[in-house]
Amino acid sequence: MTIVRFPAPIDPHVHLREPGYPHKEDIASGTAAALAGGFIVVLDMPNTRPPTDTPERLQDKIDRARRSAHCDIGFFLGATNDRRPETVVIAAKQAIGLKIYVNDTFGSLRIDNLELLNEYIKQWPGPGPIVTHAEGLMLAAVLALSHYHRQPVHIAHVSRGAEIKLIRKAKESGTPVTCEVTPHHLFLTQNDLTTLGQRGEVRPRLATPEDQTTLWEHMAWIDSFASDHAPHTIAEKDSNNPPPGFPGLETTLPLLLTAVQEKRLTIEQLIARIHTNPRHIFHLPEITDSYTEVELGGEWRLGEEPFFTRAGWSPFSGFLVRGRVRRTVIRGKVAFADKTIKVPPGFGEVLFPQSNSC
Ligand code: DOR
Ligand code: ZN
Repeated sequence: MTIVRFPAPIDPHVHLREPGYPHKEDIASGTAAALAGGFIVVLDMPNTRPPTDTPERLQDKIDRARRSAHCDIGFFLGATNDRRPETVVIAAKQAIGLKIYVNDTFGSLRIDNLELLNEYIKQWPGPGPIVTHAEGLMLAAVLALSHYHRQPVHIAHVSRGAEIKLIRKAKESGTPVTCEVTPHHLFLTQNDLTTLGQRGEVRPRLATPEDQTTLWEHMAWIDSFASDHAPHTIAEKDSNNPPPGFPGLETTLPLLLTAVQEKRLTIEQLIARIHTNPRHIFHLPEITDSYTEVELGGEWRLGEEPFFTRAGWSPFSGFLVRGRVRRTVIRGKVAFADKTIKVPPGFGEVLFPQSNSC
C-alpha cells in the first residue's frame, strides 16, 4: 500500500444545483461529495434556477455557501440572451469566471447570436477567464473571438478528437486558450451506451473510441481535468425525458489514480491537471496546509460504498479502481476521514479570483 499526498485538488466544473433543484443536490450535499472525492476546491456553474446571471443572484449564492459549504467554493456568472453584457460584467471580481453556453444543455442559459457572443468576449474584464461550452463548429467561432480580442478562454469538457486537435493548433498560434477534459470522456465511449441506455445521456455526448484515443494522445494539450459533476436522480434519468449529465465528484480521482497505476498518466501530470494548472487558470489564492491523501495499491469497486451526492448513482458503478481517497485536510483541519465528513457546513470559504496571482 502506498499513500500519496496531493496539494489541494481543484474541480473547476461542478453543478451543485442550489438554488432550484434541492432534490438533485445542494451546496451542502455537493461539497460533502467533493470532500469524499478528495476535492478541496470546487467551482460551481451558473445553470441553476434562477441562473446566476445578475450581481444579486451571485451574491445570494455567496451568502448561501458561507452558511453551508463544507469545502472551498467559487461561483461562475452566466451569460444570457436576456441581458446586455454591461449588466453582468460589473460583478466580475466576485465571480471565478464567466460561463458562456453556445450549445444546448440542461437549463435555460444560452447565447445564440454572434453579436452578443462577440460583446461578452470583448467586454469581460477578468481577472477570471471565460469558460465556454462550445462543441464542434462553435468551438472554431469561440477560438477565433478569443484570438481576435486576446481574451483568455477555457474550453469546458472537450470530447472529440477534432476539437482537441483544433485547440492544439490555436495554442500553437498564440490564442490564449486552455481546456479541460472529463473522466467520462476519458473512460467511457458511445459503446458504453449499450449498458448505460438513456442514463448515458450527457452533453457533450459520449464520443467514439477513436475520439477517446485522440484525447489520451493529446494529454500534453489538456490543461485540466474536471468532473462536470451534473447530478440528476435515477428516476429522472429513467424518465421519458432524461436530463443530460452524470454525477462525478466521488469517482474522478479513483479513475485518474487507476490511470496512474496503469501507467497511462504520471503522478506529475495528474497534479498539474488537478491543482497547479486550474489554480493558475482561475487565479485562485494559495490554500495553505491543504491536501488530500490517497491510497494506491489496492483494488476497490466503485459504488460499493454509498455516495454523498444526493443523486446517489454513478455511470461508473461496478468499475474496478486502483486508488481511493483516505482523507482531505483543509487549512490544517481534517475535513474528511474514515468515510465521514468532519467539518460543519460553513467551514468552506468562498474564493474570488486574485488579480495578480501567479
Ligand atoms: O450533461 C450535461 N449536464 N452537460 C452540461 O453541460 C450541463 C450538465 C447539467 O447541468 O446537467
Ligand atoms: Zn457542466
